[in-house]
Order: sequence, then structure tokens, then C-alpha cells
Amino acid sequence: MSEIALYTKDLSVYYGEKQAVKRVSMAFPSRQVIALIGPSGCGKSTFLRSLNRMNDLIAGARIEGEIWIGNDNICDPQTDVVQLRQKIGMVWQRPNPFHKSIYENIAFGPRYHGVRKRAELDEIVETTLRKTALWDEVKDRLHQSALSLSGGQQQRLCIARSLAVKPSILLMDEPASALDPISTSKIEELIAELKKEYTIIIVTHNMHQAARISDKTGFFLLGDLIEYDDTQKIFTNPSKKSTDDYISGRFG
Ligand SMILES: Nc1ncnc2c1ncn2[C@@H]1O[C@H](COP(=O)(O)OP(=O)(O)OP(=O)(O)O)[C@@H](O)[C@H]1O
Ligand SMILES: [Mg+2]
Repeated sequence: MSEIALYTKDLSVYYGEKQAVKRVSMAFPSRQVIALIGPSGCGKSTFLRSLNRMNDLIAGARIEGEIWIGNDNICDPQTDVVQLRQKIGMVWQRPNPFHKSIYENIAFGPRYHGVRKRAELDEIVETTLRKTALWDEVKDRLHQSALSLSGGQQQRLCIARSLAVKPSILLMDEPASALDPISTSKIEELIAELKKEYTIIIVTHNMHQAARISDKTGFFLLGDLIEYDDTQKIFTNPSKKSTDDYISGRFG
């Protein structure tokens, strides 16, 4: 049995009266890649964002249920969300680097969390850029704007930025959907590498991608978690008809 990095118990998310996520209970094993799939509007992003309380930032959004990391239920109002988001990083669909230099994009988080020494920041910048396979591409231009990078490089920079504050879990919402095929395969290789150290929960619309990169897959439909199992099982022998219909492209 692998260790569980995070689990939800009967997690519901509402926008006003509308229930977007319906009592989802899901456990995420450490150092695995877990894919969340399902048709547009089924609540994948909403569920993902709730895992580090990003929904708090949306007016009218409300959570019910529990999200456990070790002995902490992070839905508890006492939770320090800054610390939580340090532990659980997020990478968005469109690369969103700060309008700052490559170096400053990465140094920003550690500095915010109290790292002051230049040598220490230099070290974090180099290590995280190496982890995301960007170092050789950018080491001579660290002080140029992050916006001078290609889309794929920007996305790897955003991943490096989230790694810089030393999280243990990474949430990724369609991190490659805005990228070309070569950049996409670089992101996929990177995810395979990162899972040695991190638990990665990724939303994807690309069935081939889910099948290639994930260990477990959860299929959502209209806010319900329909089926959650080993990726191999989901893609070869799903238990539910609607899962089968979705992965074989009959709807969605
Ligand atoms: N900020 C919001 N305010 C109100 N309703 C929202 C908000 N964000 C999402 N919703 C609604 O909640 C439901 C789930 O949306 P969500 O974005 O989580 O779906 P999704 O599965 O990520 O879809 P997609 O695959 O298109 O990204 C949808 O009906 C959506 O319209
Ligand atoms: Mg979404």
C-alpha cells in the first residue's frame, strides 16, 4: 500500500445554489500521477481548485466536506492558506509568468516565504530550472523578461516557479492544452520525472495523455465522480458504461 498524500471525503462545491461537485471522496497516493477526466463543465477544475482552497478567491463559491493532508482537514477555517498553497502548488492551463525576469519569477515565492540570501536564491533558481529541463535553455538570459520565452518554455517556467517553494503536491489544470505537440511531450516527460518526488493531480481532456502519463484516473460527470481506478483498468476495462462511452469518444 502506498502512502496517501491527500484525500477528500464527501467533498461538495457550490457556486451559489448550483452544486458543481457532488460529495466526491477520492484518495491520492503519494508520488503518483492522478488524471481527472470528463466532459466540459463536469467540475474537474472546480474540484482541483478546491484542493488548495483556490475557490476561496471566487465570490459565491462554498465548500462542504473534508480534505485531509495527514492529520489536518484543510477545509478548517483556521487553515493557513498561504502555507497550504506552499505545500500544494498549482499550474494553470495558460502559462501565466509574472511580468518579471526569468530569475525573479522563481525567486518571488521563496523570497515571500523568507529566503533572503542571494546565494540561496541563486541555488533555488538553478535547481528548479534544472528540474524542469530549462536551465540549459535560459542560463545565459536569467535577467531577461519571462515573456521573451516561448509558450512551452513559459509553462515549464511556471512549473519551476511552483516547485521553488518546495511543495509536495502539484495541481495541474490542462497544463499542455495551449501548447504545440513538442512542448506537450516535454511537459509529459517532465511530469514523469517529477513524480519521483511529487504527487501530481492533473486535469486533461486528452485521453491519450491521461493513459500515457497517469497511474490512476478519475472520471467525472455532472459533478459526480463516476469511477476512479488504476489508469490501466479505466482505459481497458472500465466498470461503468458511461466511463466506457466517454473514453471511447461516444460523448463529451
Ligand atoms: N466562478 C464560477 N461561478 C459560477 N459557476 C461556475 C464558476 N466556475 C465554474 N462554474 C460552473 O461549475 C460547473 C463546473 O465547472 P468547471 O470549470 O469545474 O468544469 P470543468 O470540468 O473544469 O470544465 P472544462 O473541461 O470545460 O474546463 C460548470 O457548470 C460551470 O459553469
Ligand atoms: Mg476546467
